[in-house]
Amino acid sequence: MQGPHDHITDAAYEARRSEIAAKTAGLTPEDPIPVIEYTDWEHEVWRTVCVHLADRHRKDASVEFLESAEQLAIPLDHVPQLRDVSGRLESVTGFRFQAAPTLVPLREFCGGLASSVFHSTQYLRHPRSPFYTENPDLLHDLVGHGTVLASDRFANLYRLAGTAAARVQSDEALQFIGKVFWFTLECGVIRERGERKAYGATLVSSYGELDHFRSADFRPLDIESLTEVEYDISTYQRILFEAESMNQVEDTVGSFWDTCDDDTIASLLSETSRQVRVAH
Ligand SMILES: [Fe+2]
Repeated sequence: MQGPHDHITDAAYEARRSEIAAKTAGLTPEDPIPVIEYTDWEHEVWRTVCVHLADRHRKDASVEFLESAEQLAIPLDHVPQLRDVSGRLESVTGFRFQAAPTLVPLREFCGGLASSVFHSTQYLRHPRSPFYTENPDLLHDLVGHGTVLASDRFANLYRLAGTAAARVQSDEALQFIGKVFWFTLECGVIRERGERKAYGATLVSSYGELDHFRSADFRPLDIESLTEVEYDISTYQRILFEAESMNQVEDTVGSFWDTCDDDTIASLLSETSRQVRVAH
């Protein structure tokens, strides 16, 4: 983006991010979400990205996402306060936000989901690259995750992911639950009237991902197939999983999270490694 705020140096950006993170370090879900006085460049980044995304969503996002977006009405023209959106969200589906300084460890993140709490950052991406962020920022957390959390069906799926993670002991099982989360609630695609539409938070909060996702290698959504793929969160996704319908997301992924445990995940994973060994 060529804009009036290109002069923000990396050092100034890092200092601002640390300043915001410091306000949220060590907070519990019971603590009020800090109010952040956003600067002109932060409002401009928000506006630039949100206006572009809103346009793309009409073409590329799933119906469930679009209906939730209308319900939550996140403003496009200025950075909203996380506590305001959290209050609205809680009145709709019971989910609320907890401010987090940065990405929180998977077990802690999922622990929040089980009790209808989503850890959200409050800083924004660098003004030099508004359409890309390697780490989650407020735009990713609010526009990507927050929007669908205003849908009862998605809120329930997030809770199920959290309760599944709380149920397992092994890191292997936790990582697999995280992988299912990644390919659905972060990068999920759904077929609607013959067209591919995005519902995953990483896709719908990234202009760049929306440009690229239809050229991915699509696989039908299926838990066993998920055991066979790897992923890299630092680049555009080359493999994506496509559901036939929202019902299928709930039947396949919701039921998996609802019933999985250390043993079922261990046997799923060992079955795959046995097949790989036979194939070689
Ligand atoms: Fe995310």
